[in-house]
Amino acid sequence: MYHIPVMPLEVVQYLINKSDGLYVDCTFGGSGHTSYLLDKFKDIKIIAFDWDEDSSNRFLEKEKDFNKRVIFIRDNFKNIKKVLSNISINKVDGILADIGVSSKQFDDLDRGFSFNSSVLDMRMDKRNDLTAKEVINSYSSEYLADIFYKYGEEYKSRQIADAILLRRKRGVINTAKELQDIICSVKKSEGKINPATKVFQSLRSFVNDEFQNLETLLSDACKLLNIGGRIVIISFHSLEDRIVKQNFKQNASNGIYKILTKKVVTATQEEIKINPRSRSAKIRVAEKINV
Ligand SMILES: C[S@@+](CC[C@H](N)C(=O)[O-])C[C@H]1O[C@@H](n2cnc3c(N)ncnc32)[C@H](O)[C@@H]1O
Repeated sequence: MYHIPVMPLEVVQYLINKSDGLYVDCTFGGSGHTSYLLDKFKDIKIIAFDWDEDSSNRFLEKEKDFNKRVIFIRDNFKNIKKVLSNISINKVDGILADIGVSSKQFDDLDRGFSFNSSVLDMRMDKRNDLTAKEVINSYSSEYLADIFYKYGEEYKSRQIADAILLRRKRGVINTAKELQDIICSVKKSEGKINPATKVFQSLRSFVNDEFQNLETLLSDACKLLNIGGRIVIISFHSLEDRIVKQNFKQNASNGIYKILTKKVVTATQEEIKINPRSRSAKIRVAEKINV
């Protein structure tokens, strides 16, 4: 299983406002949401982005089933405006982004996203240069502490950064497992949550520039939507959810958006039972009502 799409019913219900419209899935992943949408609405077309080679290969596997209804673009969704303009598209009827990593990315131990990975990488797009290994082995203690705090709200950021610097004196830190052990030497377990969770989250965000990508997407999305078009963002991280909430609020106060989710939408208990990764997912939706 590549990835189980989160809240597919809610995504369909919120995203589709024109039954033969053109939509963008910014995070194609394993094609879960795209396939679901195409299945429910036979006359829509989708432009799908993903910067990961695995996702691009997944598209090639499924291309025949899509019956020319999907254009796949292997690029960062922050380039949405330029990429669409290059294929002569200036407006779309809806934009979906399911932010974060796919289950496949997380579970592949040679990608470096999970605690037991055999590498320290964390790049979603391997064409990019910066890896978690470079950050952990070459950045100053102050810089590391700032990353852990700013991107992960890790309250022991300074102690963890100092422990990393101390460990570096004995040689290169090569694996996610080694990094986890260093963090656990400073921070004890709190309930069921792994003590390394926030540091790993922050490193992933930093290496992939996730906050900036989201900010740029949100800022261009409102220009790309037709009136009546909707933007649906699924986030898994409170800092990302805050970015989405603030952008929608700002656009609503300028009269451009109407917010359709006054209260954030979360997965039902039934869905969480089947797909535990949906537990922390949050959906926010806005509709463009004015230029
Ligand atoms: C949570 S998964 C999406 C899963 C997908 N909705 C599905 O149902 O299969 C997130 C995907 O977004 C991609 N991604 C994350 N940030 C991206 C970015 N800035 N540009 C393009 N793709 C990105 C990741 O590579 C990953 O495949």
